[in-house]
Amino acid sequence: NTTPRMRTVLASLIQHVHDFAREVNLTTDEWLAGVEMINWAGQMSNDRRNEGQLLCDVIGLESLVDDITYRHANKADKPPTSSAILGPFWRADAPIRENGTTITFNTPEDGLVAYIHGQVTCAETDKPLANTSVDVWQASTNGLYEQQDPDQVDCNLRGKFITDAEGRYSFYCLRPTPYPIPFDGPAGQLLKLMDRHEYRPAHIHLIVQSEGYSSLTTQIFDKDSKYLEDDSVFAVKDGLTVEFKPRKGDPQAEWDLEYNVKLARK
Ligand code: DHB
Ligand code: FE
Repeated sequence: NTTPRMRTVLASLIQHVHDFAREVNLTTDEWLAGVEMINWAGQMSNDRRNEGQLLCDVIGLESLVDDITYRHANKADKPPTSSAILGPFWRADAPIRENGTTITFNTPEDGLVAYIHGQVTCAETDKPLANTSVDVWQASTNGLYEQQDPDQVDCNLRGKFITDAEGRYSFYCLRPTPYPIPFDGPAGQLLKLMDRHEYRPAHIHLIVQSEGYSSLTTQIFDKDSKYLEDDSVFAVKDGLTVEFKPRKGDPQAEWDLEYNVKLARK
């Protein structure tokens, strides 16, 4: 069924693609090179690799759509925590884990352990939000998410934590490290053509969901990381950088991060 919205979006897409071709006097060879790149992306993609999304990300499209989606929320008097792009490595089936437990089941030798804890509140009223899901995922120090790496156990470095009566969550994980996005496909080719590198700054992904509130998809970035200024997928925003502090008296973790989240009411 074609909705009015679909007609609007399609008509505009076709108009802009035609304008683009006219503007650059696109040649047959150039058009075919673009077709090949799209086909290559399709051939590379499977349930562990989303090359179509990666292609969009290196040209900043996912980041732009994220900006458009959350523009109004960030203009509120008391704005919620800023959003960031989802990226290609989220999994819908991550397990629920107990607060205070770890998401690291294959600790790499060069891995530094961090304890992350915080409170989720209503941006408007500061009321703590109990029973809120905090879904987190991160790459290991080799730059690979668990589904990209046969040496990591299933759902390593990911899990969902449910906030307690005070809206609090906590878990142990790795202090994140910078890493390259997959560079052996068309997204990597495109980066090379633009003389750009493939690195992302050290980050952890979160989706925070609470009944009656807008779902928040975001990433937090280590303020001491490289590549904050030139993230290959343009996800870094003001207000999303965090400071890991030395953690005292905990044999389980060297680093500590308090990270509080504010959600907007629906
Ligand atoms: C992308 C996002 C990530 O978080 C990541 O680890 C790799 C790639 C992306 O947006 O394409
Ligand atoms: Fe990531």
